[in-house]
Amino acid sequence: MNLRTDAPIGVPPESAAEPTHAAIGVPLPHESAELHVSGEARYTDDLPELAGTLHVALGLSRFAHARIVSVDLTAVRDAPGVVAVLTAADIPGENNCGPVLHDDPILADELVQYLGQPIFAVVATSYELARRAAALGKSDDVVRYEPLEPVLSIAQARARQHYVLQPQRLTRGSPAERIAAAPHRIDGEFAVGGQEQFYLEGQVAYAIPTERDGVHLYSSTQHPSEMQTLVAHMLGRPVHQIVCECRRMGGGFGGKESQSAVFACIAALACARLQRPVKLRADRDDDFLITGKRHDALYRYEAGYDDDGRILGLRVEIALRAGYSADLSGAVATRAVCHVDNAYFLSDVEIVALCCKTNTQSNTAFRGFGGPQGALVTEVIVDNIARALGRDPLDVRLANYYGIGARELTPYGQRVEDNVLAPLTARLLETSDYRARREAVAAFNASSPVLKRGIAFSPVKFGISFNVQFLNQAGALVHIYRDGSVLVNHGGTEMGQGVNTKVAQVVADVFGLPLSQVRVTSADTSKVANTSATAASTGSDLNGKAAEAAALTIRERLTQVAATTLGGQAEQVRFEHGSVIGEGGQIPFAQLVNAAYLARVQLWSDGFYATPKIHWDANTMTGRPFYYFAYGAAVSEVVVNTLTGESKLLRADLLHDVGRSINPAIDIGQIEGGFIQGVGWLTTEALWWNRDGRLMTHAPSTYKIPAISDTPAVFDVRLYRNENAEPTVFRSKAVGEPPLLLAFSVFLALRDALAGVAPDARHAPPLEAPATPEALLTALTKFVASTGDGTNDAAPSNESPAAEGSPSSTLPGLGAA
Ligand code: MTE
Ligand code: MOS
Repeated sequence: MNLRTDAPIGVPPESAAEPTHAAIGVPLPHESAELHVSGEARYTDDLPELAGTLHVALGLSRFAHARIVSVDLTAVRDAPGVVAVLTAADIPGENNCGPVLHDDPILADELVQYLGQPIFAVVATSYELARRAAALGKSDDVVRYEPLEPVLSIAQARARQHYVLQPQRLTRGSPAERIAAAPHRIDGEFAVGGQEQFYLEGQVAYAIPTERDGVHLYSSTQHPSEMQTLVAHMLGRPVHQIVCECRRMGGGFGGKESQSAVFACIAALACARLQRPVKLRADRDDDFLITGKRHDALYRYEAGYDDDGRILGLRVEIALRAGYSADLSGAVATRAVCHVDNAYFLSDVEIVALCCKTNTQSNTAFRGFGGPQGALVTEVIVDNIARALGRDPLDVRLANYYGIGARELTPYGQRVEDNVLAPLTARLLETSDYRARREAVAAFNASSPVLKRGIAFSPVKFGISFNVQFLNQAGALVHIYRDGSVLVNHGGTEMGQGVNTKVAQVVADVFGLPLSQVRVTSADTSKVANTSATAASTGSDLNGKAAEAAALTIRERLTQVAATTLGGQAEQVRFEHGSVIGEGGQIPFAQLVNAAYLARVQLWSDGFYATPKIHWDANTMTGRPFYYFAYGAAVSEVVVNTLTGESKLLRADLLHDVGRSINPAIDIGQIEGGFIQGVGWLTTEALWWNRDGRLMTHAPSTYKIPAISDTPAVFDVRLYRNENAEPTVFRSKAVGEPPLLLAFSVFLALRDALAGVAPDARHAPPLEAPATPEALLTALTKFVASTGDGTNDAAPSNESPAAEGSPSSTLPGLGAA
């Protein structure tokens, strides 16, 4: 089998010839699709409330950085319906909900570090009364502050070397020397904004007291085991007293990986103190104000390249806004560093990532987990190089692609062994008709003074696995009941991405059953222990394998029973279409199961999986952090109104590699959704803090996520025919995050459209992300000014021929090479 770049385009490897599978590899609907659309799907807030349930609202900090001088909650306690008001002093165990460092207080004590940080929790008989009482906390008499100077921008934090964690640095070769000696050089700065996860179901937790100091916690979380552990530590109790359960989330997108914790902990705290059921459902504005978002970033870069635009040396500094605490920023920064290469071989490279400490929300996981922030800057650099050379950016991208042999090695030392980008690109260029449309765009622009079109291609290579090795493990528990129905529990959480559907398909396939005979239960820490977050797109890979292992164990036992019952060799027994077939005949699955039960054969099993081959040295930033890579590419075309800055995505063609798809319908949905979510990040979703550090864009009225009307009229989304080179479940590939990066093509197309104003200018429009109408107009104004009347051949402002004896430029933040 040959999965290398020279494999014929679009032809599946021979071994992918499909055997007859009833439940796997087919586009079945999401297991909850009907419930989602009918409104019957139960989310945490839909669970029937027990009698006596109390509700929580939070009192939030009104300063970005301040010492708490005094707190007098008398007025809040006396408000109607209030049962209790809790502060840090009420926490019996550890006042921390930070996932890695213990630097996230559940309730602030003495010091507040961002505007919106929870200080007290009002527990009342109704949600409405809790909110009314909490609002009294805004009075100056309730909490007295001594304001301290806040650090509110990345630039400010970087200038003061104000970090939540040590800088990370990855160096290979001699980038400074290579840049100095290169025929051409480029340097510059770039910025990308953050992004609110905007899960449709907000953060919510419901805690119920159980006997002997137990708590049963329903939490909308991607990480039930962590919620369980943090609650236990907060209460100073052993972990086995806490159960955390999550049937589904109405979206997580990374925002419920660690940051469901503050809500889970406060609900559990009130529950434990009052011995009453307690629910905490954050109002949308509070959710925005309290929780962290995607890290925004400031970049500085310099590159040296040859006449074909091939990068000879590259230095990049990524300054990420971590916010006030570490949260997951260290791992986000590592993933950013490991994705600066994206699809490109970088022989001599230096990458530095800074986790800047600011007095704002603690930024966290968001689809892509730093990968998008790492790869975007390189795509912008490659685009700038192409413009400086007067070449089609596509050709410069192709010139830099990973190749074979020495050109296979990533900066962190992992080989890109499963690369399908060359044939995948060739196929997409064909189906999207890129070359002809580039000419059509140029022709359109030549005769259109106000509306300018732009088109761009961008590739994606995304590493799959958690960078932290121990997280790459999963467990599952499979039961078969006497009627032949199957119940599966696994460590993953369902957030709409379809992990339960895929895991059920895997189990159904093992037993040769229709999907309707397999049911997946809530994620539950009392069924599968010590689970990892459902994150890094690994949900189906890890839990699918664990569930498969459990199912195979049971099938092995059933096979022995079938051989005895039917006669013949065990090796000949097959499980197909609800029947078990042996040499001596066949028997319905349910009948065999009952026979096995009567013969006292165990009809349930656990299963476990740990991803092989991966390792990582955090000090040298080398190893094999990823089990494999997922690939994709996109061509997008936009139109910009150069008088108003409005823009529209006209057409997008996406071709994405999910290996051998377990469920093509779900995978296409993930690709569409990831892409559109990326388009929102790069075009409309702008977060804005005022000079006090108050996030002003904290509701849909001021924060614009994409609507269905933002999907392009022509939206061609296809799966690339492939199979995983590694033996993942069904040889599939993870799909949750990688397609988000396909949205780069839209941002690059917008730059291309602006360039249409002065097509001969040898530099790119200085457009930063998100490309809102304001940003587009600002970039256009600067661009036109730098190109004169737009017709002359102005010297590029940030590209300099490497004149003899010119000193090699050094980026201050990168230190001496
Ligand atoms: N799809 C939906 N519908 N809702 C979500 O919250 N989260 C994304 C992605 N797709 C998300 C989603 C993120 S951030 C990740 S890491 C993966 O799903 C997690 O699920 P998986 O590992 O099972 O793919
Ligand atoms: Mo996804 S950002 O890894 O939850």
